[in-house]
Amino acid sequence: MLKTSDILDEKNKILRQKSIDANFPLEEEDIKLINDSIEYLRLSQDEEQAEKLNLRAGMGLAFPQLGKSKRIFVISYKKEDGEFIEYTVINPTLISYSNELVYVEEGEGCLSVNRDVDGIIPRHARITVGFYDINGNYKEERVREEIAVAFQHEMDHLDGILFPDRIDKKNPYKNMDIMRSI
Ligand code: NI
Repeated sequence: MLKTSDILDEKNKILRQKSIDANFPLEEEDIKLINDSIEYLRLSQDEEQAEKLNLRAGMGLAFPQLGKSKRIFVISYKKEDGEFIEYTVINPTLISYSNELVYVEEGEGCLSVNRDVDGIIPRHARITVGFYDINGNYKEERVREEIAVAFQHEMDHLDGILFPDRIDKKNPYKNMDIMRSI
């Protein structure tokens, strides 16, 4: 299983590279990494397990964070009822997006950014993304709110972008009043 120390810190240059498309069928090693990542995220959102296993809570992990420059990420989001919404996303493309922008009120977190970051990150409230699943089947999904933010955050990782890059340096709370907080 993945350990917190397997996740690269923002200082690592791999996180700054543009990743390349994955080919199908996926390599065994990549399938294992996908499954291990989902397991990490699930356990990390269980307070007891997270403490026991020393996991940082997270809902998304992209391959560059694990040292692999491939266009793959996973999302595991625990709903209030305890069920998980999960995605394995491979070679994604942004098909369309809402003009409405939102930001996460408590700030976005990233398992590769181990410091407090002030400011807001504008994200589209809704996006439609085309991508391949773990078996190489193409699909398109419309996602919204927290899940849309997570997709945008993870897609940025595939292009070497980290969330602090999206914050206006001179005015970290720029346009806050014209965006909706979630
Ligand atoms: Ni991240």
